[in-house]
Amino acid sequence: MDDAEVERLITISKERPLMPETYVPWLEELKPGEVFLPEKLNSLEGLPLYNNLTDIQKIELGRHEIVQVLFSYAWGEGLFCLFMSKYILTLQPGDVIYRFLLRELIEEYRHQEMFEQAIRKLNGKPIKPSRIQRWIGLFTAKFLPVDFLFMGSLSIELITDTYGDKTRKFPASYLVLRKVFDLHSIEEGRHIHFTKSLLKRYSDNAGFFKRTIYSFVILFNIYFIRKLYVKKEIYQRIGLTKPDEVYEIALKNYKTKFTEIGLAGVIDFVKSWNGFNPLTRWAWRALMGVKV
Ligand SMILES: [Fe+2]
Ligand SMILES: [Fe+2]
Repeated sequence: MDDAEVERLITISKERPLMPETYVPWLEELKPGEVFLPEKLNSLEGLPLYNNLTDIQKIELGRHEIVQVLFSYAWGEGLFCLFMSKYILTLQPGDVIYRFLLRELIEEYRHQEMFEQAIRKLNGKPIKPSRIQRWIGLFTAKFLPVDFLFMGSLSIELITDTYGDKTRKFPASYLVLRKVFDLHSIEEGRHIHFTKSLLKRYSDNAGFFKRTIYSFVILFNIYFIRKLYVKKEIYQRIGLTKPDEVYEIALKNYKTKFTEIGLAGVIDFVKSWNGFNPLTRWAWRALMGVKV
């Protein structure tokens, strides 16, 4: 990444900051015809039982499920901030990258606050990750080298960005969420320069063994994200009888959907540095049902 370009990005970040407080019209309520989540992205659309839901149940399903997405967004960005805070220690305060990362950290913390505010605006009650999921996340963050943290949080971001992009481009999405995701996409567009250059460095320097571990770290993170989106509690909340049975078929439905919607970017990403090999391919096939 050349210094002049990074300086330019720093200047934009300082001179034209996008503040969630003013950029997002927080007082807007959901208008008739608007949805919290495009139907195609929810876990039940495509199943016969979806047609039996009332309009209110459909809206509520979208509300609860987008809350899970917002929650994972904040989680993934929190991990990325942790990565940057560790990485920055290898640089000197005057370095251009050091100064760029300070700007990125400031923006990423604002994003987390914005996602959290959006959850509250939606009266959301996020269903938290299970203990084992939390343990895996904390283990990566605490004990593995920073490049693993980088790979893990980047993969979460690739998935959540797909949801953000599809939601903000869908004309009937709730205005508050459209603006939240617009702001996010503008600022992330600037961060990507650093991310790409770092990714190149990590993957160029990684041999077969390291790429294999990267691939597993990403796979587990994605698997964890998928688990976070399909929740039995949500079916209970919207008043479905037999939420256990609904959960089983929803999971199947969502697996196919998730592969089609959210996974393409991640697959290309892992492919780009040869993360699919005889040691990892079977696991991707088994857990994600993808042909790699
Ligand atoms: Fe980010
Ligand atoms: Fe962000």
